[in-house]
Amino acid sequence: MIKKTNSKTIKLISYYKLINYNLIYNNKAINRYKSDLFGVSNEKTKKLENLKKTISKIKNCSFKKGATNLVFSDGNPEAKIMLIGEGPGSNEDQEGLPFVGRAGVLLDKMLASIDLNRKNVYITNVVNFRPPENRKPTDSEIDRYLPYIINHIEIINPKILVLLGSTALNAIIGSDNVISKVRGKWIEKKVGDCKTSVIVTFHPAYLMRQPAQKKQAWIDLKMIRDKKNFLRI
Ligand code: URA
Repeated sequence: MIKKTNSKTIKLISYYKLINYNLIYNNKAINRYKSDLFGVSNEKTKKLENLKKTISKIKNCSFKKGATNLVFSDGNPEAKIMLIGEGPGSNEDQEGLPFVGRAGVLLDKMLASIDLNRKNVYITNVVNFRPPENRKPTDSEIDRYLPYIINHIEIINPKILVLLGSTALNAIIGSDNVISKVRGKWIEKKVGDCKTSVIVTFHPAYLMRQPAQKKQAWIDLKMIRDKKNFLRI
C-alpha cells in the first residue's frame, strides 16, 4: 500500500513538472520590462520606470482627472522598431495598455502581415491618459506631453519610428504637415538624442473608417518590412 502511494506521488510530481505547474499557477502580475522577459538592461528599465513615474505626477491635466489608468507602453523595450499612436481609448484606459481595443486588433494584423508582433516592436502613444470622449488632443495638450514622448523615444532609441496618424505626425514632425503628403516616405530625423528613420502611416482606427486607404497602408508596411530587412533588425 505504502509502495503504491509513493509511486503515485512520484508520477504526480513528474506530471506537475511536465505541465509546468509553477508557471501556470503563478498569478503574479507580469512586469513587461523585466529583464527575464526581453533581456532589457537595468539602465533602460530604470529610465523607463522614472519616465512613467514622472508622467504619473503630471499636474493640472484634464486627461488624467478622468482616466482610470496611465497607459505607458507595450512590447519589447529592446525592439529596434517603435510605434507611436495618439492616445488611449476606453479599452486601453481600463487595461492600462496601448492598442488593446478594435484598433489594436487591426494594428496586430498589420504587424503580423510583415512578420512583426508585440515581442519585436515597442508601442506607445503621444498622450498617456485617455482624452475625454476619445477626442483628439489639442496642440497645447500635445505640447504638454511632448517632452515625455521625446524622452521615451530617446530611451528606446529605435532604428525605425512609425508614426500612426496625424497626432503622432504633428507631435514629432510638426503641425504644418498633412498625412496624405508625408506618408509612404522615409524621413531621417533626430528626435532628442535619437537619430532614426521615421515613417508616417494611417492610424488603424482611421483605416477602419476608411478601408479604401488600406491599400496605401500596405505600401507603407512593405516599406517598413524592406527597411527592417535592409538594416538586418
Ligand atoms: N488609439 C491610439 O492612438 N492609441 C491606443 O492606444 C488605442 C487607440
